[in-house]
Amino acid sequence: RPRLTIAIDGPAASGKGTLARRIAATYGLAHLDTGLSYRAVAKALIDAGAALDDEAAARRAAEVLDLSALDAGILSDHVIGEAASKVAVMVPVRQALVAAQRRFAETGKGAVLDGRDIGTVVLPDADVKLYVTASAERRAERRHAEILSKGGDARLEDVLEDLKRRDARDMGRADSPLKPAADAHLLDTSEMDIETAFQAACDLVDRHR
Ligand code: C5P
Repeated sequence: RPRLTIAIDGPAASGKGTLARRIAATYGLAHLDTGLSYRAVAKALIDAGAALDDEAAARRAAEVLDLSALDAGILSDHVIGEAASKVAVMVPVRQALVAAQRRFAETGKGAVLDGRDIGTVVLPDADVKLYVTASAERRAERRHAEILSKGGDARLEDVLEDLKRRDARDMGRADSPLKPAADAHLLDTSEMDIETAFQAACDLVDRHR
């Protein structure tokens, strides 16, 4: 069977990460959460006491990043997510990370990458492209429930405002804005549970194989 590359894009808390992990496990493919690479650059700047718009420092952090050594636990914090969307507007950061992400996708028997620009920029020739969305209200409810279930504390209105601000920054930036690739399949999970969304995604992958 030939190599299979799958691109999954969408806004924060759309469910794309969960879908990407399950699809990768189901089809025996490697998985890369590309958001973690932007998060790791943001964390490197924060740890170094550098400003989030320090382009030279951010470029260096992106160039030395080892994609195989990213700790999702440490990077999951929402402050880091917000900071990641600030470093993600810088062209040299994106160039370095996109190059590393493409190298990841080219090794092995295939890969699932999830992020904001996978179908449009990182893997424009991906075999299957999914664009996963849900209304901001539904995404905020899910993110809020997740925070509470982990023993955290947050107000639903604040979670919603955070999401909207991050959507606006990710969709409005000049380089590689978040948008569906022309040939992406849209999956709106507003009224769909994860199981139904997963089945719909598998149907699309099976049709392609
Ligand atoms: O998906 P996650 O919330 O981890 O992404 C954090 C931030 O990294 C996003 O808000 C976005 O600004 C940036 N990002 C990106 N391109 C990607 C993945 C993430 O610009 N492929």
